Amino acid sequence: MDLDALITTAQALVAPGKGILAADESGGTIKKRFDSIKVESTEDNRRAYRELLFTTDGAEEYISGVILFDETIRQSSSNGTPFPKLLADRGIISGIKVDSGAHPLAFAGEDEAITEGLDGLRERLTEYKELGARFAKWRGTYTITDVLPSEYAIRANAHALARYAALCQEAGIVPIVEPEVFMEGSHSIERAFVVTSAVLDAVYDELFRQRVHLEGTLLKPNMVLAGYDAAEQATDEQVAHLSLACFKRCVPAAVPGIVFLSGGQTDEQATSRLNEMNKSGPHPWQLSFSYGRALQAPALKAWLGDPANVGAGQKAFAHRARLNGAARSGSYTPKMEGEAA
Ligand code: 13P
Repeated sequence: MDLDALITTAQALVAPGKGILAADESGGTIKKRFDSIKVESTEDNRRAYRELLFTTDGAEEYISGVILFDETIRQSSSNGTPFPKLLADRGIISGIKVDSGAHPLAFAGEDEAITEGLDGLRERLTEYKELGARFAKWRGTYTITDVLPSEYAIRANAHALARYAALCQEAGIVPIVEPEVFMEGSHSIERAFVVTSAVLDAVYDELFRQRVHLEGTLLKPNMVLAGYDAAEQATDEQVAHLSLACFKRCVPAAVPGIVFLSGGQTDEQATSRLNEMNKSGPHPWQLSFSYGRALQAPALKAWLGDPANVGAGQKAFAHRARLNGAARSGSYTPKMEGEAA
């Protein structure tokens, strides 16, 4: 294993001012996104939409890497350039989602899931590396209530995340370890703090036991916040404060970067809360983004599946990328929202 190469890639993904675009929506998820703009989810529409994102001028200043889906890593731009090459030519690193989704966890309550996809993973990683992937993503999910997640679900998912991470490193691919405690629910921010801490504690315990080199990994967690249905919502300052307190206790300093998922926060919340955390830096790790919805929502709405709107979609994406780039150094202000929109 070439640990130095893994470290170089991990550090490049969290280079100052930059973060990751998660464009790895599975077939079901991209259909949901397209349904919201009344566009049919055909292979060519998916390809055209991803091309819009990947060819946005200026985005490479703020986007270090893109997470692709299996279909996307095999697709090409309209002029025939394979997407991983197109991205590499622009200095953007290709990543790949390798889990095959969350499935019911046997003998657990119906809201608890285990992420599958370990069978055959070693061979798939070899193929993805040949296709140009330098990092990967695996997401474990956790429903949060007064009593969930169970210790059983926390342990099972931590074990799978660590098995995935070890296989990635063996293949020369940086694993993004993504334990996502859902933001849906009526739980308090204090409950999110307790659950996120327990989940991270189990994840780092398993990563250690399974001999994963933390220097060549990234963590992709949820921010610590109150459930969307909670009567009392936390301020951005409270979210930043409790998130940082949680990560400082649970995430070893050997991890080069924490790259947040957006999880259904508004674009502005996702940017503002990341900014708030970075304002009080430096921290032991780089604090960055690996947003799906919070980077793409305005672009999707501007595009609407119409080739005539590609320029407008790209403008919207470049704008969001720039604002999140600013949040990397705590220099974002709400005033910037209106600037180039
Ligand atoms: P969201 O930012 O839309 O939550 O997506 C990020 C992601 O990759 C979830 O796995």
